[in-house]
Amino acid sequence: MADRINRRIVMAARPEGAPGDGDFRLEQTAVPEPGAGEMLCRTLYLSLDPYMRGRMSAAKSYAAPAEIGEVMGGGAVSEVLRSDVAGFEAGDIVCALSGWQDYWTSDGRGARKLDPAAAPISTALGVLGMPGMTAYTGLYNIGQPKAGETLVVAAATGPVGSLVGQIAKIEGLRAVGVAGSGEKCAYATGELGFDACLNHRDAGFADALAEACPDGVDIYWENVGGAVFEAVLPLFNPFARMPVCGLVSQYNMTELPPGPNRIPELMRAVLTKRLSIRGFIVWDFADQEDEFRDTVSGWIRDGRIEYREDIVDGLENAPRAFQGLLEGKNFGKQIVRVAPDPTA
Ligand SMILES: NC(=O)c1ccc[n+]([C@@H]2O[C@H](COP(=O)([O-])OP(=O)(O)OC[C@H]3O[C@@H](n4cnc5c(N)ncnc54)[C@H](OP(=O)(O)O)[C@@H]3O)[C@@H](O)[C@H]2O)c1
Repeated sequence: MADRINRRIVMAARPEGAPGDGDFRLEQTAVPEPGAGEMLCRTLYLSLDPYMRGRMSAAKSYAAPAEIGEVMGGGAVSEVLRSDVAGFEAGDIVCALSGWQDYWTSDGRGARKLDPAAAPISTALGVLGMPGMTAYTGLYNIGQPKAGETLVVAAATGPVGSLVGQIAKIEGLRAVGVAGSGEKCAYATGELGFDACLNHRDAGFADALAEACPDGVDIYWENVGGAVFEAVLPLFNPFARMPVCGLVSQYNMTELPPGPNRIPELMRAVLTKRLSIRGFIVWDFADQEDEFRDTVSGWIRDGRIEYREDIVDGLENAPRAFQGLLEGKNFGKQIVRVAPDPTA
């Protein structure tokens, strides 16, 4: 192993607006040597997620910002190469927050063993991982879906939105998606079973959304903010729920959009329509992880849930893929294949 190189991508600078190539740096180091009680792992699949943009910013948030020069953080699926950790042996496949790098060492804490026979191991980063759990727990705990209601969700073909919409269908709701291209919308209605899907880039999007929600909106799953939220606001029914999961249209924002100030209009709707708006972070519902995984794995086995992955090859391509994710260039869960999958 001594002659092998570890490539890792660090944050070179804090982005101003959209992250650029210069905000990342590929470094080469020696492969780390695991100490006593540690294991050495090789990254196979790296997850790219919108929240990583928040970590690159110094602004106060629910998690500490990344430091300049630090390896970009993130979830990954890896193979154990050598282990001195009880319960882990060479050949095991694990999922952990190990970051944008080829090799890493660990004492095993925070590493979850995967069963490659149960599901393709990359799904631990998407439909059966953090994004899937976000959709499942946020929808049941905050959205509180009821048959016959109408749900709207944007980023509808991504790992969170696609599962939100499909669970809504399982629960008997009308599911209306919003996505960034005609191809994505066709996939949402054709493969995922949404009742309708509108392209937020089309002129007349707000009118088309209103037409697709003839009985109003009972649940608006907030993934993006901005123009989509503004189009939904007049459509809310009394007692509608709005789980605030993400605001991806704002993540690269450097200043507030020009007026008018819409807060009075929003607060009037909250009051008169008795809206429930609640932000959440997936780990608020950490105790529901097993229930989520059991239920959603069962739905996948039964063919009730479809998922889509957008896999880019090569760790060196992670920065570009990440930049694309924030602009909607991904089509499905964005993953980087860092090394060949030995279980495929
Ligand atoms: N609260 C939590 O714990 C938690 C956990 C996981 C994820 N999240 C959030 O959930 C949301 C979805 O995450 P994901 O992993 O499933 O991402 P994703 O859908 O794979 O990727 C983000 C998508 O956002 C859409 N988008 C980007 N800019 C937009 C804009 N200006 N207006 C409208 N849509 C835009 C794009 O889809 P289109 O091309 O279809 O527009 C893009 O593909 C994100 O906001 C993320 O931060 C929150």
